[in-house]
Amino acid sequence: MSKLLGALDQGTTSTRFVLIDAGGDIVAQAQREHRQICPRPGWVEHDAAEIWRNAQAVIEAALAKAKVSACDLSAVGVANQRETTVLWDAATGAPLHNAIVWMDTRTQVAVDRLAALGVGDMVHAKTGLPLATYFSALKLAWLLDETPGARARATEGAALFGTIDSWVIWNLTGGAASGRHIVDATNASRTQLMNIETLEWDEELLRIFDIPPACLPKISASSEVYGECVGALAGVPLAGALGDQHAALLGQACIKAGDAKNTYGTGCFLLMNVGETPRVSKNGLLTTLAYQLGDAKPCYALEGSIAIAGALMQWLRDNLGIIKESSEIEALAKSVPDNGDVYFVPAFSGLFAPRWRGDARGLIAGLTRYSNKGHIARAALEAAAFQSREVLAAMVADAGVEIGALKVDGGMAANDLLMQFQADIIDAPVIRPRQLELTAVGAAYAAGLAIGVYASLDDIAAHPRESRRFAPDMSPQERARLVSSWEKAVERSLGWAV
Ligand SMILES: Nc1ncnc2c1ncn2[C@@H]1O[C@H](COP(=O)(O)OP(=O)(O)OP(=O)(O)O)[C@@H](O)[C@H]1O
Ligand SMILES: [Mg+2]
Repeated sequence: MSKLLGALDQGTTSTRFVLIDAGGDIVAQAQREHRQICPRPGWVEHDAAEIWRNAQAVIEAALAKAKVSACDLSAVGVANQRETTVLWDAATGAPLHNAIVWMDTRTQVAVDRLAALGVGDMVHAKTGLPLATYFSALKLAWLLDETPGARARATEGAALFGTIDSWVIWNLTGGAASGRHIVDATNASRTQLMNIETLEWDEELLRIFDIPPACLPKISASSEVYGECVGALAGVPLAGALGDQHAALLGQACIKAGDAKNTYGTGCFLLMNVGETPRVSKNGLLTTLAYQLGDAKPCYALEGSIAIAGALMQWLRDNLGIIKESSEIEALAKSVPDNGDVYFVPAFSGLFAPRWRGDARGLIAGLTRYSNKGHIARAALEAAAFQSREVLAAMVADAGVEIGALKVDGGMAANDLLMQFQADIIDAPVIRPRQLELTAVGAAYAAGLAIGVYASLDDIAAHPRESRRFAPDMSPQERARLVSSWEKAVERSLGWAV
């Protein structure tokens, strides 16, 4: 048997370890969910120690399932939820505080303060990102200011900052004893501290956000050998890391300018490869790094992020109890012929791309005595498609090219009703791959490229992917009616939080 590649996919809701063969096919995987800690409205935290324990458990479980051990793996890559911010003790490895998750809105006051200082345009030009609660810099500043002793320790390098890739890489390579303190360039591009052109930490940004340089990881390529793993993966080269959405872009082989994909997980993330020059959006999209492979020039992407998509299914399951499993949503939605004029705007953390309205909050609009839980289920699914449509329109406007077809992946892409509605509402085909886990596949590809399992990106692009195409089948009048009602609902969600 030729050797396998491993990928640790540390997501917002769960951690997976996936083994793939050189052809890009998943051989075995194990997954474990972690707690979503919500101490106040708008606050979302994770226990980074729990995440690391889960990572170790899923690594062992996947190896056992496949009946292989570390010596059967040629390399391991990491994909991760982005922006989520960890601060830990360099000597003990203990987190100083719960990690602050990307969708957490506690830094809104700081966002407003910086906006009032008039630095928004400068920050946007340097990082490709608008001032928003989404990115790591203000989350880190909050941890430094609110955790007793943290700022002093970070200033001495005794407390280390990292996004989740940094956290798991440091632990995988030996923690306090020998851990590598690095961040891959795609993750660094989401901190709002890295200059998107030079790929270095930016002194002016560090000053504005009040971040001591001593706590920062070294920015590294997305595909290079960072070090060797210890523990269950002892001796295996750790050779790739990408933010989960960037990994999915690679997993989908979106390697040419104009290639785009949409991943439906906790949120929805549409990314388009724009080639070797960063392109600044005029339509509310983020400029971000697509990937940086070894010494090659970095490749950039435009991104539209939607905070709540699959998370809405979990909310219907956990907070309303109208389904027991996310997968039940399709049957419930199919129990009614249409949305019954009900619209669900899931602005739980405000609205991200392309509107960037921190003051929006969730609402269900259009309820009548006729409405039932089937309509709410349908509206919840359709919300992901309506929001993706808006992002796609912004992307087309920025890039100046029509998108021929939309490549999709992620857990929610299993939903046929949603995929058909997505094709209908964007009036373009939706292409579903054989495997929905392309995030992990992309991280494994990055590791495989670093150690020569693949000679080039073209090797990866040659792997077969497509399994099903959803062709649009909706009249222009019906599409216009639905979109117009959706927009009315969104208007009503704005300005709720002050
Ligand atoms: N059949 C389905 N219909 C609709 N949504 C679904 C379905 N199956 C799973 N989901 C949703 O998809 C999400 C899981 O997708 P996926 O596994 O890609 O996310 P994830 O990788 O865990 O997300 P993240 O990386 O953000 O943690 C969950 O939010 C779940 O509610
Ligand atoms: Mg994921």
